[in-house]
Amino acid sequence: MVDLRIFIDANNVTVHPQTESVDGWQLLLKHTAPNALHNSRARYDAPKCDEDTRVEVSGEIVTFIENWDDPQCLLCMTGAAGSGKSALQQTTAERCGEKNTLGASFFFSATDPSRNTVDPVVPTIAYQLGSDNTGVRRFIKAAVEKDSLIFSKSLQHQITTLIVKPFEHLGGEGLDLSTLPYAILIDGLDECRGEDSQAELLTAIKECLLVDHLPFRILIASRPEWAIRTALAPGGYLHELAYHIQLSDKYDASGGYVSISPEEVSRPHFPDRQSPVVHPA
Ligand SMILES: Nc1ncnc2c1ncn2[C@@H]1O[C@H](COP(=O)(O)OP(=O)(O)OP(=O)(O)O)[C@@H](O)[C@H]1O
Ligand SMILES: [Mg+2]
Repeated sequence: MVDLRIFIDANNVTVHPQTESVDGWQLLLKHTAPNALHNSRARYDAPKCDEDTRVEVSGEIVTFIENWDDPQCLLCMTGAAGSGKSALQQTTAERCGEKNTLGASFFFSATDPSRNTVDPVVPTIAYQLGSDNTGVRRFIKAAVEKDSLIFSKSLQHQITTLIVKPFEHLGGEGLDLSTLPYAILIDGLDECRGEDSQAELLTAIKECLLVDHLPFRILIASRPEWAIRTALAPGGYLHELAYHIQLSDKYDASGGYVSISPEEVSRPHFPDRQSPVVHPA
């Protein structure tokens, strides 16, 4: 019981209700999409590249990830339905995981409501970057506690607050950022609801993450739909910045070639998109 005698002679006393303290890390977790991780149960047994397939492209991807001398830090992989983008991203994620270079993965899925919008992307990436590093986690946690509405802010603001600043703080403390897992893989951008949101994510990545003092190597895979297509086209805002791999649309797992009709490639596939299965003849 509070002893009220201390207030007897007091003037202009204001009593503030006790504010509930927020655990920033727990709040971040609530905004993540666990299904989107490359090793989530929801994606159990996700397709990946069979041995001796996509050898050349895989080599290009490894070089992109590991070659620090190359200033290009964004790789965009486009290809039609069933061309093997997700298989490549899955294989890359697993290989990076083994080498401890995987910072984060996010696999969109048009048919999974927990990961078919842009909302959970930044929190999920920040969660993964912070889960293996107490320093990064500490700064992310503090940032969320400072602004609990961060998840409703623009993607650019979210990336700056939850990814860029924590890394900058750590760099400021003398940590060599290149020692942290730095590969960020985003698969199926076209499966994210809303072309404007897809474009907002690409723009936010361009503005915030493609800067010299940050260690990230970012790989984005998508069907060549409006947002990424216009960004990568000559004159587009990613044209000069991104290393662009265009996958052949005539690949199939058995090593044979199948044809995909133009209708299938270009059909609008959201929101009732089914996984396009390319059956060998
Ligand atoms: N390198 C590969 N090795 C083995 N199987 C593969 C390979 N590439 C693709 N496949 C097979 O082809 C199917 C389609 O591949 P995947 O899902 O990666 O295509 P996608 O380009 O991501 O298509 P979408 O645009 O629909 O997401 C997979 O289910 C997988 O079985
Ligand atoms: Mg895919």
